[in-house]
Amino acid sequence: MKPSIALIAMVFVALMPVSLQAADPSVSLDRAPVDVTDQASLQRGAQLFFNYCVGCHSAEYMRYNRLGRDLGLTENQVAQSLIFTTDEQGEPVGVGSLITNAMTPVYAEEAFGVAPPDLTLVSRVRGKDWLYTFLRSFYLDDSRPLGVNNAVYENVGMPNPLWELQGWQEKQVDADGETRLQVIEAGSMSGPEYDRAIRDLVTFLVYLGEPMQIERQRLGMYVLGFLLVFLVLAYLLKKEYWKDVH
Ligand code: HEC
Repeated sequence: MKPSIALIAMVFVALMPVSLQAADPSVSLDRAPVDVTDQASLQRGAQLFFNYCVGCHSAEYMRYNRLGRDLGLTENQVAQSLIFTTDEQGEPVGVGSLITNAMTPVYAEEAFGVAPPDLTLVSRVRGKDWLYTFLRSFYLDDSRPLGVNNAVYENVGMPNPLWELQGWQEKQVDADGETRLQVIEAGSMSGPEYDRAIRDLVTFLVYLGEPMQIERQRLGMYVLGFLLVFLVLAYLLKKEYWKDVH
């Protein structure tokens, strides 16, 4: 019996990679222009991450020294510019440590109602576009305990950690009934500058979710190069074998 087209189609669909991203379909996400091979962007993103996020969030599946190697930083640079966490004796943690933070889950829950989740894999759970839009979508909302809300993550427990850079946004309804977020009090960055900063930060989070991807892309180029060379050799060999047959 010949398998029916429907059966083949079903097998095909079952084998397709499924992307599990918990995006709310009612908000449209902006495309995040990230490029993990851009080392300068990764370094700027790491700087933002360690200055503004690690106070509350950890990235405890990653070590500082691995990060330094991948981002082209020496251990000294990592120790001086990225490590702000101290151990029980009050000494800065070593470069071989995991990226944990000092906030206990109990304290965090008291402060924010919900403990800040670990961010190592957040880019794989939420997707880069969600993160890029989320971090640019905080707005003032008096009804919330911290005075801010987020257009992508309704009633989020996190305040806008980057308000000094972005300023404050407000939800406004424009002439054709669309709601938009409008900066009403400027921060230290202009809109495009802030978008670039978030691009860098999301690039870093995407790298963090799968550190191997930089190496994989580099290796991929070698593999393709090898296959090209091999193609030429195989073609020449084929010509050699078949030349007496005809
Ligand atoms: C003052 C503490 C604090 C700081 C600083 C902070 N966050 Fe958060 N963050 C939280 C809390 C609390 C939550 C949980 C919110 C909730 O689920 O309602 C959260 C949630 C998140 C989430 C959503 C995770 C998910 O999948 O549900 C992301 C993404 C995130 N933070 C990224 C960041 C980034 C990036 C920075 C640095 C720019 C940062 N946070 C700085 C407290 C903080």
